[in-house]
Amino acid sequence: MLIYLLALKMGHFKEFLSCVIIVILTLSHPGHGRANPSNILHRQEAMDNGNFIVDWFINFEQQTAHFLIAVKTRSYIGFGISLYGSMDGSDIVIGGVFDNGTTYFSDRYGTRFTEPIVDDVQNWEFVEAFETETHTVMRVSRPLDTGDWQDKPLRDEDMYFIWAYGSENATDEIIYHGDNQGSLLVNPLSVGSPKPNTQRRTEVLDDNGNYVVQWLIDYSTKNVVFQVDVNTTGWFGFGLSPAGGMTSADIVIGGVHANGTVYFDDRHATGQSLPVRDDHQDWVPLYVSENATHTTFIFTRAFDTCDGQDVPLTNDTLNFIWSYGTTDNIQYHGSTNRGTFQVLPLDPEEPPIETEKYFKYEITHTMTMPSVDTTYWCTIQKSPRFTQKHHIVAFRPKIETPAARAHTHHYAIFRCTPPANQSAEEFFEPYVGQPGGDCKVPNPGIPAPYCQTMFYTWAVGGKELIFPDNIGCPIGEDGSEVDYYMFEVHYNNPQQLIGVRFETGATIFYTDELREHDAGILMVAHQTSLALMVPPKSPEYKSVGHCDPYCTNNYLPESGINIFALLHHAHLSARKMKLRHFRNNQELPWIKNDENYDFEYQQTRPLTDSIVVLPGDHLTTECIYDTTWRDGTTIGGLATRDEMCQSTFWYYPRSQLRECRSEYQMPQLLAKFGIEQIANRSYPYEDVNVIAPAQFAGLRYTEVLDNRVVWTPQLREEVQTDSSFGLHDGVCYIIGGSDNVPLPTGYPTFPEEYQPINECLEK
Ligand SMILES: *[C@@H]1O[C@H](CO)[C@@H](O)[C@H](O)[C@H]1NC(C)=O
Ligand SMILES: *[C@@H]1O[C@H](CO)[C@@H](O)[C@H](O)[C@H]1NC(C)=O
Ligand SMILES: *[C@@H]1O[C@H](CO)[C@@H](O)[C@H](O)[C@H]1NC(C)=O
Ligand SMILES: *[C@@H]1O[C@H](CO)[C@@H](O)[C@H](O)[C@H]1NC(C)=O
Ligand SMILES: *[C@@H]1O[C@H](CO)[C@@H](O)[C@H](O)[C@H]1NC(C)=O
Ligand SMILES: *[C@@H]1O[C@H](CO)[C@@H](O)[C@H](O)[C@H]1NC(C)=O
Ligand SMILES: *[C@@H]1O[C@H](CO)[C@@H](O)[C@H](O)[C@H]1NC(C)=O
Ligand SMILES: *[C@@H]1O[C@H](CO)[C@@H](O)[C@H](O)[C@H]1NC(C)=O
Repeated sequence: MLIYLLALKMGHFKEFLSCVIIVILTLSHPGHGRANPSNILHRQEAMDNGNFIVDWFINFEQQTAHFLIAVKTRSYIGFGISLYGSMDGSDIVIGGVFDNGTTYFSDRYGTRFTEPIVDDVQNWEFVEAFETETHTVMRVSRPLDTGDWQDKPLRDEDMYFIWAYGSENATDEIIYHGDNQGSLLVNPLSVGSPKPNTQRRTEVLDDNGNYVVQWLIDYSTKNVVFQVDVNTTGWFGFGLSPAGGMTSADIVIGGVHANGTVYFDDRHATGQSLPVRDDHQDWVPLYVSENATHTTFIFTRAFDTCDGQDVPLTNDTLNFIWSYGTTDNIQYHGSTNRGTFQVLPLDPEEPPIETEKYFKYEITHTMTMPSVDTTYWCTIQKSPRFTQKHHIVAFRPKIETPAARAHTHHYAIFRCTPPANQSAEEFFEPYVGQPGGDCKVPNPGIPAPYCQTMFYTWAVGGKELIFPDNIGCPIGEDGSEVDYYMFEVHYNNPQQLIGVRFETGATIFYTDELREHDAGILMVAHQTSLALMVPPKSPEYKSVGHCDPYCTNNYLPESGINIFALLHHAHLSARKMKLRHFRNNQELPWIKNDENYDFEYQQTRPLTDSIVVLPGDHLTTECIYDTTWRDGTTIGGLATRDEMCQSTFWYYPRSQLRECRSEYQMPQLLAKFGIEQIANRSYPYEDVNVIAPAQFAGLRYTEVLDNRVVWTPQLREEVQTDSSFGLHDGVCYIIGGSDNVPLPTGYPTFPEEYQPINECLEK
């Protein structure tokens, strides 16, 4: 069995040394916890106002403790373990670096009156010490129980870390340490209480559980600590990739050689070949351990390393790419031990709910998957009958069999609203229990236009949606005893398998113990209509939908609403989505931005802190489309080749407002193409016959745009600018009706756009 605490003896680690200091200091609140309950605990405490930092790892399997101690001094460091907090009888190590570069270290024990006495047996293992301009760093390790009476065993109970160090410019002579000493009560084998403003996430990246990544996000210091546990004694690779493959990926490769040396490099991909070592090493290794079968590697980095050869961690959709080899020869690439895992890396993970406390119902569909590559299947479903109000508190994916996991690409549940004067039951009930239909065909035999309020979605990697403790989504209120839903499943069957049958869907948990606040859902969108139009072969085309202050003024409560989760929704051509927030002609921080939106990876995203929207605020959803992959004009519509532009969020307390939309004024848009009159439509998104002028008569709207309009770069730009920045017609949709915004709407005339702070420029 081998244990390595970063064999930094190796020359190429030397350039990490200055980084280690920087990271350790910015990790002043790293949070902590048992990174892997069965294996390694990683925790950090800062003492003496951050001048004395102890970062430690407990390897439970090997019963060892590993300390990394970073202190703001170039003199000696003293660190110890004491049962009562005093020097007397304590277990102490003293070490440092002489001015000539030689390191020194000794395992000692404390007495009341003298300098600590050197132990007869040196049980603490000195790994290394080094100095930077301002700091001394020392790494030491030891068994939890050394069995030596001159040491103190590390147990799962409270004891004291005692610390001392020579003052800043002192020599390394161990003299009286003046004020530079103290103690901290700590249970060294426990996770401690979670640090504020941190989140811990875990994902199994492969199908067989051979590659597990855990990461600790610290929003205060903007740092992440990763731990990968890989079922190999060879090399591992871990990377961040915006697009999914090797292209532009930021990669680390590490492992432990047979002779015990550790290797770990920050690299970047330049193609399908071995990634190239970065000029600057920004991923910092903290701990390595290898047993007979597994390698555990812990490393850290900033959200944004400010290195063009790295990929920043942001709120955008990203991919973890992973690989491993059976040997330490990184040149060798196995074809199977690699993959891509889509992730929102900085989103919080919600704590599990105690499901036995709640009632539940399911929205699921069981059928034999059609033997074609891609199917979108829609059914109408309903809730149980409620005779009184209840609160929904959580959604949990129900995708249980291997076939369901392999072939459910994603699904969406939409809430249905009947036409104005009909009851939900009489309108939707006939569709319930029916086999449903292919959602992509123009007339799937289900009332899709009445089921457009996004309720819950799941995509591979999707999480439970759990409401905050004091919030519930009301259901079963007066007049609507049954809730109706359209359930849309994307079946993925690239091998066109025949006869594969499985159930897929969600379990919805609810309670009759009503919570303090009713949650509401509010959508800010461009109307799904012909006015939402993307010219053919547009690489980066913007559309926007406004929620006018008229709607927020008239329908939100005086104290405003609090957004706690959000879902962006658009279709196959959407690449970026943003919900912007304006108040008094000032732009506030974006409510949610995704520069890497992927239709196949839609998630309802909890917010780390709820965001308040006040009456009079203006909200705008912006979408950027790329239609170069398809022929023809893209129009607003229900099919996935058609487009939408919608931000839907969960908020409390519930207000009357459920949707807030706008659209560019159709006559102005038609005028740009020389269209004078179009026929009436049943739905605003239906492609339509052009009536006038005569040369277009009988052609469909999209045919005119595809074949008669000459899409010069100028025209494309003009249509985009006018439809984004020109005047829109706005509508507030409220419970049981709608209210047109009386005056045309558009962006507020604000002085300056919100610019996120670029910390790299400030550094
Ligand atoms: C470095 O300095 C220390 C303390 O002055 C001394 O004991 C040691 O011999 C020196 N080592 C070398 C290689 O000069
Ligand atoms: C330590 O030395 C540096 C550089 O010589 C000096 O700037 C600093 O003030 C000194 N600190 C103390 C506490 O004497
Ligand atoms: C590790 O991988 C081997 C195959 O290489 C497999 O037999 C074993 O079950 C895996 N161990 C774990 C814990 O998954
Ligand atoms: C350990 O093995 C690796 C790979 O064979 C080699 O590059 C390295 O120099 C060796 N290190 C030591 C200290 O022997
Ligand atoms: C090796 O470590 C892994 C996790 O890192 C652990 O699951 C496994 O049980 C360990 N194997 C042995 C033989 O102790
Ligand atoms: C992510 O979004 C939140 C708001 O939801 C914001 O506070 C935070 O600064 C963003 N993080 C990054 C790294 O952009
Ligand atoms: C709904 O109202 C329209 C007129 O507003 C009426 O013609 C129609 O019959 C009504 N439908 C039902 C089901 O009441
Ligand atoms: C289209 O609708 C308008 C208003 O609803 C109506 O006046 C007109 O007759 C309709 N035109 C056709 C061709 O149906």
